[in-house]
Amino acid sequence: MLVSAKEMLQKAKAGHYAVGQFNINNLEWTKAILLTSEELRSPVILGVSEGAGKYMCGYKTVAAMVSAMLEELKITVPVALHLDHGSYEGCYRCIEAGFSSVMFDGSHYPIGENVEKTRELVHVCGEKGLSLEAEVGSIGGEEDGVVGMGECADPNECKMIADLGVTMLAAGIGNIHGKYPPNWPGLSFETLAAVSDKVGNMPLVLHGGTGIPADMIKKAISLGVCKINVNTECQLAFAAATRAYIEAGKDQQGKGYDPRKLLAPGFEAIKATVKEKMELFGSVGKA
Ligand code: 13P
Repeated sequence: MLVSAKEMLQKAKAGHYAVGQFNINNLEWTKAILLTSEELRSPVILGVSEGAGKYMCGYKTVAAMVSAMLEELKITVPVALHLDHGSYEGCYRCIEAGFSSVMFDGSHYPIGENVEKTRELVHVCGEKGLSLEAEVGSIGGEEDGVVGMGECADPNECKMIADLGVTMLAAGIGNIHGKYPPNWPGLSFETLAAVSDKVGNMPLVLHGGTGIPADMIKKAISLGVCKINVNTECQLAFAAATRAYIEAGKDQQGKGYDPRKLLAPGFEAIKATVKEKMELFGSVGKA
């Protein structure tokens, strides 16, 4: 059964580790992430961007697929199904479709409007027992059409949003979706420390988990981050493994063209990436 992300994140915050949010794109992605979580006894959050939701035929299809997979794969670790960077309307659609968690990304609104819309969603999610993530500042780069300038969050605005009673808060700290450019100055730990100071026990979310060096991840966790989002890294691993299979001509040997064979190396590559991240984040054995 899907669960809200609240309990797993509060435990992570108290235990000084982070739960990974891994974005899904299709059945293979979902199965790879769920099986790895179960093997490693790790809680997990499956992220669905609005673009990926559309690609997978809509949120109802996604919720039905994930719920059925939990049952048929006999997954016993805590799993949350979470809308990533949701619009106001998208949040309502996912709540209706059976997601157990949503992110309302109101970071592009003036802060007053972000506060009002987030306040309303805190109420709606609270009534239904869903977890809610909000955002202040912005995540640089682009993810599925959501573009951010990457400005660091204002700690006072973070407190305004945290005080509304959201479950977790994403604060921009110089993080970027996708690959980091060679001249990236790194995460702003000054901003993270100031935000942490203002919001106390609120679980903090680090987006743009792809390519952040291990020492920065560990430092971010020590400063209150307990949810880390990873998307691009699984895509890169999947693409590289699939490319190697085809370039080695394996799709031309026997029935190597069978999609179950063709997609298998990419599937294994996602599993390996998720395992590596869960070990780094410290969530192994925490289910
Ligand atoms: P990456 O694609 O950089 O890993 O970021 C994922 C993310 O933050 C999803 O919201």
